[in-house]
Amino acid sequence: MRLFKQLLGVFAVLGVAFAVLSLFTFDVIKIDWVTFMEIQPAYKPMENPLAVPARSIPVEGPLSIPNMGAPENPVAADEVSIARGRELFMINCQMCHGEGGQGNGPIAANIVNKPANLTLDVTQSKSDGSLFLTISNGVLGRMPPMNENLTVRDRWDLVNFIRTLVAPK
Ligand code: HEC
Repeated sequence: MRLFKQLLGVFAVLGVAFAVLSLFTFDVIKIDWVTFMEIQPAYKPMENPLAVPARSIPVEGPLSIPNMGAPENPVAADEVSIARGRELFMINCQMCHGEGGQGNGPIAANIVNKPANLTLDVTQSKSDGSLFLTISNGVLGRMPPMNENLTVRDRWDLVNFIRTLVAPK
């Protein structure tokens, strides 16, 4: 009986020690152990990245730099560019915007947010850079962003093609 009590005491002490140690696992009580990954300057999640340094150029070429306004069109609107733009438009855009860009593509009737009529002044009066940014970033919930599917050159070709769109009289 005495032995049993002694064992019980030992287990009780071990149990409490184990419980206390457990608190330090799974970050119940968090100790900031110094690990190598932490000894370096790093951004915390949700922390604002620094502004782009002055005079730096995006690796992809003349893309927009945040807070620096719409980019300039570096691609001349020659036959080659417009032909490429037309081809890309028929593949990526006409299902919504229609072959003539009038917002009457085959799926336009079935979507809630109607595609823009690109022949109208509203669109044509916008700068090349502004159209480029819309094509690159899309319009949330309305038009998909194309920056991952089309190269920078492709998107400027599309801008040049959109400039040729006129509403039939
Ligand atoms: C899923 C259908 C869909 C596809 C695909 C699509 N668009 Fe759009 N696009 C829209 C809608 C909807 C709007 C209008 C957004 C709004 O209401 O602001 C729009 C707006 C635009 C505008 C802005 C017009 C303005 O006045 O600001 C441009 C430019 C444009 N699209 C070009 C393109 C090009 C180029 C492509 C192909 C690379 C394309 N779109 C593919 C649905 C689409």
